Amino acid sequence: MTRTADLFGPVAEDIPAVADRLRGLSNGHHSLLSEALAYVFDSPGKQIRPALVLLSGRLGRFQRDRLVTLAASIEAVHTATLVHDDAIDEALSRRGLAALHRVWDRKVAILVGDYLFAQSAQLASELDNVPIMGLLSETVMAMSSGELRQYAAAFHGTPDEEEYLQRIAGKTASLFAMCCRGGAIVSEQSPERAEALRAYGLNLGMAFQIADDVLDIVGDDKTLGKPAGSDLRQGTVTLPVILYAQQAADHRRLLDRMEDAQDVQTIVRAVRASDAPTRALERARQFASSARGALEAFPPSEAREALVDLTDHVVTRGY
Ligand code: IPE
Ligand code: IPE
Ligand code: MG
Ligand code: MG
Repeated sequence: MTRTADLFGPVAEDIPAVADRLRGLSNGHHSLLSEALAYVFDSPGKQIRPALVLLSGRLGRFQRDRLVTLAASIEAVHTATLVHDDAIDEALSRRGLAALHRVWDRKVAILVGDYLFAQSAQLASELDNVPIMGLLSETVMAMSSGELRQYAAAFHGTPDEEEYLQRIAGKTASLFAMCCRGGAIVSEQSPERAEALRAYGLNLGMAFQIADDVLDIVGDDKTLGKPAGSDLRQGTVTLPVILYAQQAADHRRLLDRMEDAQDVQTIVRAVRASDAPTRALERARQFASSARGALEAFPPSEAREALVDLTDHVVTRGY
């Protein structure tokens, strides 16, 4: 695995402050809330979103504490959506630990997720910046709408590529876009640069989610920390499966009914054996390349280099 020091370049040293900030907020509540918050914040994940906030902020007037506050706010949103997502998906594990709804139950997962959304707004409000609050609200709305779109389509056959792209733009890429645009706003960059960073984040997020969806099909259970094909088992048809279905009429019928675990296994095997995962990754690479293009507006710097490197990393991670 790539060391974060290599990956996050000039902000690698600032990243731990984000998790520290969040851990500091888990104390002092009644025991159920404190324990649940400590549980989720003791395993911080890959921290790609905080890195995006800080690196984007490096391209302007770098104000470490304010950027760490924004990154903590965004990580709180991200954590809230994962807690809810795992309860909705009935996922067994998250970040190598049992998912929160399995340690406690689904009601606790709903309430802790709600708490984290509010905590995110509270952290963002410390910045005293109305555009940031607007951006945060719009982003959470886009994410919820994307997740609902996915739920509405579950077990309803194969969506077209456009529907899939809209879904992942909402549920994943909107938050990546916020990291970069938010970092630009807090570091007082021009509207043009804030827009270029938003475009970078959006495209990077699209590449990231497509790669995640390909991994769910081609990854092994050990690396994934969950059985391959989990998305399909939840009725979620992702890009590799969509591309596969476009050329496999017989399996399209199977996809339309997908009744049991056996059907899911058959489809996963067929998709793996086809060129659809490679073609889906090719789409991810195109998004990564658009993300790189958006960075051309910036003069060379260590931070820009790190953002460029992330465009490679998101499409190669886990392979
Ligand atoms: C998981 O995000 C949710 C997706 C958008 C696929 P990450 O893979 O960034 O999760 P952590 O924070 O590293 O655990
Ligand atoms: C859901 O995406 C997380 C959000 C973006 C809200 P996934 O369902 O693909 O994430 P994993 O695979 O469970 O991490
Ligand atoms: Mg999930
Ligand atoms: Mg996934």
